[in-house]
Amino acid sequence: MTISIVAGNWKMNTTLREATSLVSEMKPRLDDAQGVRKVVCPPFVSLASMADLLRGSTISVGAQNMHHEDSGAYTGEVSPLMAAELCEYVVLGHSERRQHFGETDESVNLKVKAANRVGLKPILCVGERLDERDEGRAEALVERQLRGGLEGEDSVSGLVVAYEPVWAIGTGRAATPDVAQDMMAHIRSVLTSLYGGSTASDVPLLYGGSVNAANATDYMKESDIDGALVGGASLDADSFVEIVRAAAEARP
Ligand code: PGA
Repeated sequence: MTISIVAGNWKMNTTLREATSLVSEMKPRLDDAQGVRKVVCPPFVSLASMADLLRGSTISVGAQNMHHEDSGAYTGEVSPLMAAELCEYVVLGHSERRQHFGETDESVNLKVKAANRVGLKPILCVGERLDERDEGRAEALVERQLRGGLEGEDSVSGLVVAYEPVWAIGTGRAATPDVAQDMMAHIRSVLTSLYGGSTASDVPLLYGGSVNAANATDYMKESDIDGALVGGASLDADSFVEIVRAAAEARP
């Protein structure tokens, strides 16, 4: 069975002090939850401390982004090698990066390749805007992002794909489990056409967009949804722990 993953994307939230207290609160409770891989993605400045705090625990650390070059004159950027020293995962191509920082399928593809090169597991984010869905272009758009992000990549070991419809992120307007499942099935079929059925079935597919403790179970029950990428609710220890438990119970 595909592994289940619940990842918390903290975005540009938490000072080091706040990050420390959030992780300290969650850690003993998350360590108890079996059967689900747990990932927290704090801001860069807290990564080293969180990696220290979580060493030896069952909780993995992820970065929210990175540059594709290993080093160089890129003021303000963090390289794949730097991230790989501290993290197991890296979120790539989040819609906020595409929207506010000009990331494209091409730049995301360079980052996916860089992640694979240094042994980081990419959480590749795809998802359509509301106008694209209304125009009936959601599937085509997500397929383009997926094929573009994976262009030229022969190996997908470690790959995680997160489907996050832009209109559902931070809005409280979560996609219904049906809508999410339909897109996941499409993503799975695109992965199958690229890498074959058995490889595609091993890639964990996460739903993201207003996931909370109350709705998490409904997603996890869907056949092609293997977990969640959680934004707002991952900043609250109780909520995040509940979502992880829901995932564990839904997919024993
Ligand atoms: P949200 O964010 O859970 O706050 O909607 C999800 C995400 O952007 O990863």
